[in-house]
Amino acid sequence: MRPTVTVNCAMTADGKIAGRSRRQLRISSPEDLQRVKELRTSSDAILVGVGTVLADDPHLTVKGLPPERNPLRVVLDPCGRTPDDAKVLDDRARTLIVTSEGCQRTWAKGEVLRAGTDRIDLEQVLSSLYERGVRSLMVEGGGETIFSFFESGLVDRYMVFVGSMIVGGRGSPTPADGDGFPDGGAVRLRLLGFERLGDGVLLTYEVGHGPS
Ligand SMILES: NC(=O)c1ccc[n+]([C@@H]2O[C@H](COP(=O)([O-])OP(=O)(O)OC[C@H]3O[C@@H](n4cnc5c(N)ncnc54)[C@H](OP(=O)(O)O)[C@@H]3O)[C@@H](O)[C@H]2O)c1
Repeated sequence: MRPTVTVNCAMTADGKIAGRSRRQLRISSPEDLQRVKELRTSSDAILVGVGTVLADDPHLTVKGLPPERNPLRVVLDPCGRTPDDAKVLDDRARTLIVTSEGCQRTWAKGEVLRAGTDRIDLEQVLSSLYERGVRSLMVEGGGETIFSFFESGLVDRYMVFVGSMIVGGRGSPTPADGDGFPDGGAVRLRLLGFERLGDGVLLTYEVGHGPS
């Protein structure tokens, strides 16, 4: 058994989730930020890759919620690169850092889960989260992490806010980076809805499992 997985991100109108410096970019409209807050509140856990922790240093919490009501924060960090003073390790919520089995690093705060030898075994992570009571997981990024969830066929819903700006840059991250699928391979989506949220559009897709 595994939690329901929703991938949520914000991209520019030219398909980037950050600019070429990879620093955090405010793409969401105020209306979209409110929607993300509600989605976080209704999720049992929020997951990001260590690249996002290093680039953005996010709290990954819902302002106003006490620690016990905030979703569990999960960081995919195979080699243990999360800094000790990362905001994701503060007292505002519980945190689970997922490393590979070969990584010896521990942190003063935050629990560690070792899953997979080379790559992190995402199915193992999800069943472990399910055992901890997580029924809904929100994957917030970045591009490497989102691609690895799609590649593993573990995404149920994909929500992307398209903000009205262009940032360009061939190296700027996109919602799904990684190695990409082989020629002709793609994950098929079914458009469930679209909604104007301020000066941008939210697209919601259901995901057909596995590349085709
Ligand atoms: N606009 C948005 O909605 C949004 C949201 C979040 C982030 N971002 C942006 O995204 C960028 C960061 O994205 P990113 O792609 O560089 O980083 P990322 O996806 O946050 O993290 C990537 C790293 O996480 C680890 N990882 C992810 N999946 C793994 C797996 N299946 N197995 C093992 N390790 C795994 C790897 O760590 P190792 O390298 O240590 O192996 C990988 O390099 C930043 O610019 C940030 O601002 C944008």
